[in-house]
Amino acid sequence: MQKGHSAVLTGLGAWLPPRVVDNDALSQRLDTSDEWIRTRTGIRERRIADPDTSTVDMAVQAGANALRSAGSDLVDAVVLATSTPDYVCPASAPQVASALGLSGIAAFDVNAVCTGFVYALATGGGLIAGGMADRVLVIGADVFSRLCDPADRGTVPIFGDGAGAVVLRRGLADEPGALGPFDLHSEGDNADLLIVPAGGAKQRESDDPRDHYVTMHGQAIFRHACARMAESARAVLERAGLEIDDVDRFVAHQANIRILLATAKQLKLPEDRVVANIGHAGNTSAASIPLALADACEDGSLQPGHRVLLTAFGAGLTWGSTLLTWPDVKPG
Ligand code: COA
Repeated sequence: MQKGHSAVLTGLGAWLPPRVVDNDALSQRLDTSDEWIRTRTGIRERRIADPDTSTVDMAVQAGANALRSAGSDLVDAVVLATSTPDYVCPASAPQVASALGLSGIAAFDVNAVCTGFVYALATGGGLIAGGMADRVLVIGADVFSRLCDPADRGTVPIFGDGAGAVVLRRGLADEPGALGPFDLHSEGDNADLLIVPAGGAKQRESDDPRDHYVTMHGQAIFRHACARMAESARAVLERAGLEIDDVDRFVAHQANIRILLATAKQLKLPEDRVVANIGHAGNTSAASIPLALADACEDGSLQPGHRVLLTAFGAGLTWGSTLLTWPDVKPG
């Protein structure tokens, strides 16, 4: 891409399953309470997909809404961030593209778990930068509730289901919506901190059914999330020649309200610049950043002209950040 050109955000869409499960409902079947979940995570309720709703279904809904918001369904590629694809093989993005009437275009999945959306933005931006696409639909969608052992009070309260999407187009680096710079990292040595041990190619079957569900070392993940998101936020700001005071809205992966606030504190970022929708959405993995953007647009806390810092952390481990000035875009 020529100097001065960039991938520019031009559409936004969200979709949450209609079924609301609040903390009281969980407390009836798990040894937990509304008070514990709210004070330790900030979550009051989450949306859970019905059994006949899959990641592809949710991604199609959010993708259609983003295309509507962009005012055109012309895109050259679909990049789907998910760690809960409908099948181990094939990827889900081609089915999403076909269901959206986009059969024939490039479509593939990106799996960076809860950092997936930031990685997918970088990938979509890279397709545009490399001249392989002019417009890209980037979707984050997960039914992470299906990876949670129904008997595990450590994970069930945290995760919810949902999908969010944006449309990127080729544009200028100095116009509102232009993405970048990016900061992306991983650390595979800590893969076991949040892992589904069985079901993949390494261990197809297991005698212990719990191996097919996610196991999480919550406190270690908490510490890594705060440190890595703060590090990455600083790195991307430095690369852009900006200070933390230049950030109007911090839209980070919605893992836990305490993680969001602790990270903001490390960054010396005032709390009123932190966008949080975790109270009603829970941790929706790859969907959480676009869902938070859509909610902040709807409630008016995100306005055109705001400088937005996007930061995420997830299993892998993976983490990363990017920046944009919010364009005149509303959820479709
Ligand atoms: N309800 C009631 N009690 C619970 C509970 C629940 N749902 N889950 C755990 N507990 C108990 C524990 O058994 C423990 O009891 P003990 O002191 O008798 O041993 C106690 O609460 C404290 O557990 P702890 O794990 O220290 O709590 P915490 O303050 O670290 O909070 C998490 C747990 C999972 C909420 C927190 O660690 C967290 O959010 N981690 C990050 C998870 C995350 O973001 N994952 C996704 C990354 S993208």
